[in-house]
Amino acid sequence: MLSMKNRKTGPALAICAIGGMAVLAGCSKDPNSAGLEYMPDMYRSPAIEAYVDYGQDPYYFGDSLAKAQRATQSARLPVEGTIAFANSEADAAFNFPYPYPHTPEGYEQAGRELHSPIAMTEATVAQGKALFEVFCIECHGPAGHGDGTVVAKGGYPPPPAYDGPQLKDLPEGKIFHSITFGRNIAMGAHASQLNQKERWMLVQYVKYLQNGGKMPGQQAEQTNPVANAAK
Ligand code: HEC
Repeated sequence: MLSMKNRKTGPALAICAIGGMAVLAGCSKDPNSAGLEYMPDMYRSPAIEAYVDYGQDPYYFGDSLAKAQRATQSARLPVEGTIAFANSEADAAFNFPYPYPHTPEGYEQAGRELHSPIAMTEATVAQGKALFEVFCIECHGPAGHGDGTVVAKGGYPPPPAYDGPQLKDLPEGKIFHSITFGRNIAMGAHASQLNQKERWMLVQYVKYLQNGGKMPGQQAEQTNPVANAAK
């Protein structure tokens, strides 16, 4: 009976003893030390910290080298002239830098030379409308008459109506330029909120409103829920 018992508990005791030693070997007086680590690769993956050069992990190369590496730049800016990646060549074209400067001459030049790369369709106008209702409607109003809620609350200069005498014939290049850089002091730049494609969609919606809220060549009653509602 006794020998049977010993045969059972013996291996169990040995496993406990080895396990206990292994646990204790992990102890260290240094509170910042992880102690003895078994199979460090399991929990210290070779993934590298940002701004530490690849391969200079402090675990493998020591703190002093890793610290020195932290002072050197490793995540570098793309070289000048780099064009952001896009899925299609057509979309990549929207990532080219805007060529006209933020000056009165740049504004005039954009008005003469700059044309929409996107054909105006019901679909692009609808996308422009969705953006307009987020970024522009509060000042320009639902039909672009300069009667948005910001203006209605008072204290803000009403923008001229898109289909009024001042803006009715504003060329699309100037519309794009003004969305990009803002206009005078009352309207801010929107280049950081809207990419170039979105700005062109907005230009199309402004043109739609310039045209009294209808597609060019169509009757207002058929296609214009927005302007009709505002009348
Ligand atoms: C904070 C209010 C405000 C917001 C938001 C705003 N605008 Fe304006 N916008 C104005 C005012 C005011 C003017 C008239 C500026 C002037 O002529 O001095 C103006 C002028 C314009 C013009 C005429 C520019 C020109 O060249 O004469 C266009 C086009 C225009 N806005 C489109 C937009 C679009 C599109 C958006 C949304 C992306 C937008 N605006 C957002 C206030 C605003």
